[in-house]
Order: sequence, then structure tokens, then C-alpha cells
Amino acid sequence: MTENPEHQASYAPSAEFAAAANAGAELAELAAADRLAFWAEQADRLHWEQRWTDVLDWSGAPVARWFVGGRLNVAYNCVDRHVDDGHGEQVAIHWEGEPGDSRDITYAELRDEVSRAANYLTELGLEAGDRVAIYMPMIPEAIVAILASARLGLTHSVVFAGFSPSALRQRVDDASARLVITTDGQWRRGKAAPLKEAVDEALYANGDVPHSVEHVLVVRRTGIEVPWTDGRDLWWHETVANADPHHEPRAFDAEHPLFILYTSGTTGKPKGILHTSGGYLTQAAYTHHYVFDHKPGQDVYWCTADIGWVTGHSYIVYGPLANRATQVVYEGTPNFPDEHRHWQIVEKYGVSIYYTAPTLIRTFMKWGRQIPDAHDLSSLRVLGSVGEPINPEAWRWYRTVIGSGKTPIVDTWWQTETGAIMISPLPGVTAAKPGAAQTPLPGVSAQVVDEEGNPVVLGETEANGYLVLDQPWPSMLRGVWGDDERFRETYWARYADRGWYFAGDGARLDPDGDLWVLGRVDDVMNVSGHRISTAEVESALVGHSGVAEAAVVGATDETTGQGIVAFVILTATTENTGDALVNELKAEVSREISPIARPREIHVVPELPKTRSGKIMRRLLRDVAEGRELGDTSTLVDPSVFEQIRADKA
Ligand code: WTA
Repeated sequence: MTENPEHQASYAPSAEFAAAANAGAELAELAAADRLAFWAEQADRLHWEQRWTDVLDWSGAPVARWFVGGRLNVAYNCVDRHVDDGHGEQVAIHWEGEPGDSRDITYAELRDEVSRAANYLTELGLEAGDRVAIYMPMIPEAIVAILASARLGLTHSVVFAGFSPSALRQRVDDASARLVITTDGQWRRGKAAPLKEAVDEALYANGDVPHSVEHVLVVRRTGIEVPWTDGRDLWWHETVANADPHHEPRAFDAEHPLFILYTSGTTGKPKGILHTSGGYLTQAAYTHHYVFDHKPGQDVYWCTADIGWVTGHSYIVYGPLANRATQVVYEGTPNFPDEHRHWQIVEKYGVSIYYTAPTLIRTFMKWGRQIPDAHDLSSLRVLGSVGEPINPEAWRWYRTVIGSGKTPIVDTWWQTETGAIMISPLPGVTAAKPGAAQTPLPGVSAQVVDEEGNPVVLGETEANGYLVLDQPWPSMLRGVWGDDERFRETYWARYADRGWYFAGDGARLDPDGDLWVLGRVDDVMNVSGHRISTAEVESALVGHSGVAEAAVVGATDETTGQGIVAFVILTATTENTGDALVNELKAEVSREISPIARPREIHVVPELPKTRSGKIMRRLLRDVAEGRELGDTSTLVDPSVFEQIRADKA
């Protein structure tokens, strides 16, 4: 029997890998025997100032309380305790700046930096429970700012530094942040792009409507000129840098709010997903340990996400640091100064665990294998993927080219809302199938069900359904900031009678019972692993004076997973100037939301397909955008609109 090694149906770990792996088959058995005792054992990976009395209180469902009565300091767990345990000299962060500068920060140094920042934030009058917005590129101070907030019980809200001033303002206002921490500018492909300026634009926006911000703390990164408001604005190097490096951490309740992170929903307004302390850190640490098979003091770990997304929170800051990882943090883009950058970094630091997104893997494929082939990647031993379903072709390329044909690949499914990985192969246990997230982790319970909540039947070719989480988990969201109703409506209403969490994803079970995530079933697009709602982009488009109506769909895209395709109707007085208008509209969306939301295509059309009740039929527009034959048009008011749309698109 010959077998094409590139086209196996599944890839079992080598005996050698399995023998040394953190997770064995017994993990699932333990969790199945007593789920709550299992989670208690995972919580014991952390240092608790005071132990909990109950593992879980679900009586207030859907708001869970995990490790009831327990008290801990999250930053102490991520930093100080490693120093106390004698690992102060271990490098926590190998930081690599985009222009080529770099910095190694040990755990002892990180403790001092976090303590200084905590002392200074205290001096500013911030108190536990206050909100701090962090709008920063990938520099060590961003991680320090996050940890200092956690140390003081301040709730941080990290806003991706690629977001526009209006997106920042919306988030600052929603959470009533008292402080914004930012930088003068950020490096982007060799150029210093202003960031402090964007903060000012945000804070003076809306006709200078009052906001909650008392101070803006600014790290100097690029040296560019910045607008300055005396009294309000403060330089980090003149304040934090001179503060006392000793700070006594205080313990907080396990349910103390740790952070808010905004994510797109099906309406134009982003949701502030709320996470708390003990359960979140427990699951972030647990998953980082087992899913990546991380060995503290031996591995060099690199997660390529940005701290502006949940992956950066859980798998750059909290999980790895709680587990005493030595990790690479890289500031810039993968092709600066050229496409070799990631592989040079892997070589330079001997990266052994690498965690990235399918969209980047597909980009690497496009650049060609001669690029990674020019480097010694033999230090890599585990590869991870997150953010969208990874197509089997990209999976195989990842394993063959980056993983020398032998590293396990973990395809990790989770969400901002779940806080940590939920469904993933375990690298020393699972025979991995390209394209499948496969199995809920030990301690996690998921099902694939139909509309009514009946489990799909295994082995049926059409075993497709909705992904639900039918048991609470420690790092689950505790709410939507300031909007309890939206929290219940979005996640808990669909299967309210069963008390299940609805993830918004479609999924399939194959005849072996392995789970394949198929993507969103709501009006949320996934572009390069970023969640963007159709409504948000539509609202940015109709914000332009020339646009009367807009409909946006996510169409399949070879590199980015989905690409944004917009259909717009112009106002009567607007002249269609062709490309000029389209470019202007694209720029408007970049300005309003972020360049990541810039539509791939915009089509000016005379009419949009609507049902009799006035609902835009996005499914049909998706057919058009992807060049397919039209599906069912029988509920349309005017089926002939498609002739015109097609004509305009061609
Ligand atoms: C999608 C990112 C398939 C999914 C951590 C989910 C995935 C959304 C995977 C959450 C995966 C994430 N396979 N789909 N391995 N990982 N997704 O909140 O649609 O930015 O609902 O969290 O990304 O995106 P979010």
C-alpha cells in the first residue's frame, strides 16, 4: 500500500512526541469522570491568595460564577510568582521591533516594569473597577499596561491600534474609560504612522461632546511630533519610568472584572465582551499548557496575533505568562523589510511553538516555499491555527513546509466570548485531520444541533447544524458591558429552554464524530480572521452623503477567507463617477472603521433585492458576488433587479 504523505486523512503524533507530551489520553477520562473536580485541578495551576468554596455557581445563569469566594491577583500569577520561584532571570519576552531593534525582558524586569506602572496609575488616582483604554501597537509597554491594570483590578479595554478615531471614541465612551494609554506613533512598513493624533481626534470628535477621559499616557515609540494638551497628556518616560519598582499586589475576587474586549455583532454597534479573573486565567493557562504542549524554560513560543484581539489577550499575555513562557513578541508586518521576516525570527530565537492564522498561511503559500525553505526551521515542534476554518490545502502546506512534515498542528476553535480555546486536537493525543477542529477539550462540552436543539445524527452525510456549548466553562464571557439584554438575546435566547450558549457558527460532525467548524451563520463576516459585521460596514457606507442604501456581504476570498463586497444605491443627486466614487467610498469605510474593513469590491446598483417585508436578501447577493447561479428568488419583490445588478457588476 503506498500512501501519499501529503494526503493522509489524518496525522497521528509520533510515538516520541506522544511520550513526552503534557496531555495524554487520561486527561479526557479525568474530565469526564468529574468535570468540576477537573476544573478545580486546573485552577490549582495558579496561585490563590484565598481558596474558593465552590467550583461553580450556575444559579444565576447565564452569568456564571467560577471559583466562588476565591481570591487572586492575575498579574502576580503572570509575573511575580515566577520570580519568587527562582526564575527571575528567565526571559519572558524576546521583543522584536519592526525597524530591527530588539529587547529581551526577563521576568524580574517585567515585574519591575509592571510595578512601576501600577504605582504610577495609582498616583493618577485610578482605583479597582475603573476602566482603562489601551490603544497601542505591539510594544512591551502595551503588555506592561495590560498587566499593571490587572494588578490594580482596573478593567482594561484594549482597542486595536488599527482602528479609527471614531471606533476608539465609541469604545472609550461605552466603557467610560478614565485613562487612555497610547504611543506617539507606530511603525508600519518602515513608516511612522501617528497614533496619539488619532487619540486626540477621537477625544475632540462629536463636536467636543464631553467624555470620561482624564489623562492620556503616551509612550514614545517613533519620535514623531504629537499634539499635546497640558495637564491631560503625560509622557510614560517622564512618569512611569521614574516610579517605584516595588509594588505589593492585592488579591481580588475570582469574579472581579478583568477586561472588556469589543467585538462585532450583527448590529452596527460593537459589543463589549466582559471577562473576569479566576476562571479566565485558569482556562487560558490550562489550554496554553496542553494545546501547545508548552514546557516552561524549554520552549520558545510565538503567537503572531495582535494584542488588540482576544488571541493576543489569552495567548500572548495571560496564558503564556501564567505558564512562565519565554515568548517572541513582534511589532510589525510579516513582509517588512521582506517576506523572510517571520522565518528569520524563528531562526534567531529558536522558536519551537508557532501560532498563527490561516489567512497568513495562505499568504505564505502565495509568496512561495522558497522563502521558508531558505531558513532553518528545525526548532519548530508544534504549529497552531486560529481565527477561521483552515482549508486542508493550507493545513498540509503548513505541516509540510513549515513543520518539516512532522509537527502536530492544532486547529483551535474559540471566540472572544469563550475567552480561551474550546475545541482543538491535543498534539500528543489526537490523530489530526486537516481542516477539522475535531474535539472539545477535556472539561469542555459542545454539541452540533438542529434548529430545535436535536443533536445531528452521526454518519449522516448531512450532519450539519449549529455549534452550541451545553455546559458553562471557566473562561466564558460574563456579559456584554452595559447591555444585559443583548447578552441574553445574542447568545442564550436561541436555545433558552435548554440553557445552551449559541456560538453563531455552523458545524458538521463527520462519521468519526469529529467536529468541523463551517463558519458564521449570522451577518458577521470573517476577513483575515477579523470579525466584521455587515451592518457596521453598511452603516459606514450610508454615512457617506452620496449613498442612499447599502448592502454588504462576505464573499469567498482565496487569501482572506472572506472578502467584503458591497452593493450601494446612490442618492438621486449623486453622480456616479465610476472608480473615483468607488475609491472614495472604500476610503470612507477605512476611515470610519479601519483599513481591515475596507471593501474588496463596491458595486453601484439601481436596486437591492428585498423580501416583501423589506429585508435585504444577502444570501442572493452572496450568490451574485461569488458568480453563482441564483438561489430561490421567489420571495423577492422584484426578481428583475438581478439583471441590472449583474449587468452593473460585469
Ligand atoms: C471563527 C478568535 C473555524 C469562528 C479566537 C468564531 C474559527 C470566530 C476558528 C471567533 C477555527 C475561530 N476554525 N472557525 N479554528 N477559530 N473561528 O471572536 O467563526 O475574533 O465564531 O475569536 O472566528 O472570532 P474571534
